Amino acid sequence: MEEQTALIRLDDINYEFPLILGTEGEKAFDIRSLRTKSKFIAFDEGYGNTGSCLSDITFIDGEQGVLRHRGYPIEQLAAKSTFLETAMLIIYGELPAEESLAVFRKRVSSSASVHTSMHHHFEGFPGNSHPMSILSAMLNALGAYYPEMSSNDRDQDLAHFDETAALLISKVRTLAAMTFRMKKGLPFVAPNHSRGYCENFLHMMFTEPYFDYIDSVGAGDALDLFLRLHADHEQNCSTSTVRMVASGGANLFASVSAGVCALWGPSHGGANMAVVQMLEDIHASGDDGTRFIEAAKEGKAKLMGFGHRVYKNYDPRAKILGKTVEQVLTQIGVDDPLLNIARRLEQSALEDEYFVSRKLYPNVDFYSGILLRAIGIPPEMFTVMFAIGRMPGWIANWKEIAENPKGRIHRPRQIYTGHGLRDYQALEKR
Ligand code: ACO
Repeated sequence: MEEQTALIRLDDINYEFPLILGTEGEKAFDIRSLRTKSKFIAFDEGYGNTGSCLSDITFIDGEQGVLRHRGYPIEQLAAKSTFLETAMLIIYGELPAEESLAVFRKRVSSSASVHTSMHHHFEGFPGNSHPMSILSAMLNALGAYYPEMSSNDRDQDLAHFDETAALLISKVRTLAAMTFRMKKGLPFVAPNHSRGYCENFLHMMFTEPYFDYIDSVGAGDALDLFLRLHADHEQNCSTSTVRMVASGGANLFASVSAGVCALWGPSHGGANMAVVQMLEDIHASGDDGTRFIEAAKEGKAKLMGFGHRVYKNYDPRAKILGKTVEQVLTQIGVDDPLLNIARRLEQSALEDEYFVSRKLYPNVDFYSGILLRAIGIPPEMFTVMFAIGRMPGWIANWKEIAENPKGRIHRPRQIYTGHGLRDYQALEKR
């Protein structure tokens, strides 16, 4: 059968480029030789039409609202899996056998403490520092405590990969809890190795000398679901950043620390915090959401937690959270007026021509803040929670880059639109 190619005509010359077909029928034409052959480059600000890599990890069909990790639909993982099992699936490609999961759990559990000299780093941050700036700095600093795992020698870093992956998944949670305690002026709580992943996190957050935090309402299960739903999401802003940093040969600690910075912005992971802020403002102003929807349509406000670069349908993670959040609130015994406002906003937006014609649907951040609030996590920490959840995805994407012997440093080009050549000497005559 004749091999299909893409034919592009530039300056009256025809160029042929091979086609690439993904497992799920995604089509691309391979322009890696475009500039060498033609001197042209492709311009795609925001990368909406650019495939930056071949990846085996996550598949999204934004038109159909489909999300799968290593072939498994997110709905099945949400219903049946756990965060650590899903993390292993994402990182290693297969659902683990019981024994390997047990080894991984043990590794995660035994890595939970951080070196006591790291405690002093926290003293250097002002009390009003944002938790994301602390987390990013601490993750990068963590690498300094494990020079053998953060050598920037690819073979060496890969030789320690299993250890590093479990360590990061474990310690990001400890560092997050320490950040919360430091900001409140509370003493750090040592991890309790007999508790599960989420239970231990809640213990490090909320145990006090006079009160041993016991999860009697299923907060740990709700948190595990939240983390599972955030575990990976293909080439989003933070994951692309991790891959970009990794492509230069940087170690895993440095790469995920950069991922935290990229996640921070309100157009990305910072949206979960912005959603709750928006709902609180609407609640405080006595609006039932109607005025806010009108302001969003006039471009005076943005409906945070709505819209997505890839999903032009319901984000499947938002669908799961939207259904679960009510159940979690009832279980925990919380009656949150913000949930009613969120439901009203969603209903109005789904019926409104402005949102319908632009295919703007709730994304994962729309309900996640309400769930985190119910567990007792303050809005400032929401994006940190997202970072804990996204750690497996960042790690898996770093691994893909690190294990590719043909990988090249990521270095996009640009179209220069500044001044033409100017003469400094002419300036001296002023
Ligand atoms: N509220 C109101 N209007 C919106 C919204 C929104 N949330 N999102 C997009 N629009 C409008 C835009 O103004 C634009 O309108 P126009 O065609 O009249 O100019 C149109 O919809 C297309 O929007 P773009 O900005 O081109 O969409 P893009 O793909 O660049 O941005 C993004 C996607 C950043 C997620 C955007 O929808 C947004 O800012 N949403 C709110 C923030 C948010 O929830 N971010 C979390 C994303 S999910 C995640 O990262 C985990």
